[in-house]
Amino acid sequence: MADPIERLLDLARQARGRAYAPYSNFFVGSAVSTDAGTFSGANVENASYGLSICAERVAASQAVASGARHIDAAVVTSSAPSPTPPCGACRQFLYEFNPQMTVVSESRTGERQRWILADLLLDGFGPDDLEGS
Ligand code: THU
Repeated sequence: MADPIERLLDLARQARGRAYAPYSNFFVGSAVSTDAGTFSGANVENASYGLSICAERVAASQAVASGARHIDAAVVTSSAPSPTPPCGACRQFLYEFNPQMTVVSESRTGERQRWILADLLLDGFGPDDLEGS
């Protein structure tokens, strides 16, 4: 599997199978390619609903905790019939690690959509905005 996006989607589909989503029944998997390798994650919900965390932030956190500081691409795959974009919180979370990263979403039927993160989060707040404060 030469195409790195195909490899990420495969990892994300596997992660989606491990999603813990008993409340929404919306199963999501994500994978990121980084300067420290590839990592994946799934959404993890909680009986205290507001504590639930998205697959993208789990994948990015796995990556950063393993030493990554730059994300080249993030993919997400969900149980929805159409590709679902990352939520606003995930857009901000990912922006920290490269506004120019490629973002790909795949639906359960294999339909895909692709973006550059900065187009999903216009004029996002990043590390540079804290300089000189
Ligand atoms: N969710 C994700 O994991 N990623 C997204 O991009 C959108 C939403 C999760 C959060 C929650 O567990 C469930 O999907 C329903 O919102």
